Amino acid sequence: MTSPDPLLEITGLRLEAGAADAPARLVDGVDLAVAPGEVVGLVGESGSGKSLTMRSVLGLLPSGVRASGGRVGWDGEDLLAASEPRLREVRGGEIGMVYQDPSQALDPLMRVGDHIVETLRLHDPRLSRRAARERAVEALAAVGVPDPARRSRQYPHEFSGGMKQRAMIAVALANRPRLVIADEPTTALDVTIQAQVLDLLRTARDELGTAVVLITHDLGLVAEIADRVAVMYAGSVVEVGPVGELFSDPQHPYTRGLLASRPHLAARGAALPAIAGQPPLPTGRPPGCAFHPRCPLAGDLCVTDAPLLELRGPDHRTACHVPAPEGALR
Ligand SMILES: Nc1ncnc2c1ncn2[C@@H]1O[C@H](COP(=O)(O)OP(=O)(O)OP(=O)(O)O)[C@@H](O)[C@H]1O
Ligand code: SF4
Ligand SMILES: [Mg+2]
Repeated sequence: MTSPDPLLEITGLRLEAGAADAPARLVDGVDLAVAPGEVVGLVGESGSGKSLTMRSVLGLLPSGVRASGGRVGWDGEDLLAASEPRLREVRGGEIGMVYQDPSQALDPLMRVGDHIVETLRLHDPRLSRRAARERAVEALAAVGVPDPARRSRQYPHEFSGGMKQRAMIAVALANRPRLVIADEPTTALDVTIQAQVLDLLRTARDELGTAVVLITHDLGLVAEIADRVAVMYAGSVVEVGPVGELFSDPQHPYTRGLLASRPHLAARGAALPAIAGQPPLPTGRPPGCAFHPRCPLAGDLCVTDAPLLELRGPDHRTACHVPAPEGALR
């Protein structure tokens, strides 16, 4: 896995839904490690299991979805086995969560500042209400909410979309978490606000040493902010490595397809054709390598044997039976 002792280390995570004797494997053996202060981009087509993987870290799986194997190591502890009171301590205390839609994090009936007051006092009951209010105003100021004292007394509907996003980040960062999980935090935002949100996450990393897992479809964003990238396909991580290396020398045919679909590469005429076909549903995954029906390199072994995530360079792993063609993207 990564060089320093990982803060978060997911190994062999399996999540399933449906009848126990014929479950749908939504997440099928995910391995993912995040070092302290590291920004990891988590990418992959819709339905590949990005959100469920990260929700399992916080014990926030939707009803009907259960963990059936693996481990979510958090500083030596297995969060999959943690009690609900312990998970409440972790959520918002040690791990902050930022969503695409701020209404998932902000209660419309609660003043914006009170969200921060509540989360601060939940994790530090000795903190007085007055001191927590002051810290809430500081937290809003730190994410660039103008006139924060007055704004802290307003309700979420009085905030614009971009300001709500900032407020949600202020709530997520209030307790100086060691990790922030950001699930498509900028997808619904215009480009200027996207850049501001990214700056906030970057500042948290630089100033507080916060590690970030950024789930996104936007490879440009990943190139800009991530240290490492993990690519998911059909419920598994198929490639993970340092961002520069993964972009310049992608090893997995799926990663190469994803990168080839990026507009600027296509415009340079250096791209492979984008990936044809659709990813399989969790109930209809093909045997062997789940990517084989779409893969231009698939051979007999790919149809019968699932490849394991194996080293292709220092800290660069890929799950594919076939070595990448030399200079595939260059
Ligand atoms: N509550 C649920 N019950 C059954 N299946 C579910 C449930 N929630 C998600 N799934 C399925 O699990 C798979 C993984 O979903 P997940 O939301 O993690 O994907 P994702 O990679 O985050 O996709 P997106 O990019 O669209 O957000 C999908 O096939 C999805 O349909
Ligand atoms: S294992 Fe085979 S089918 Fe799967 S990505 Fe590699 S070459 Fe393609
Ligand atoms: Mg998702």
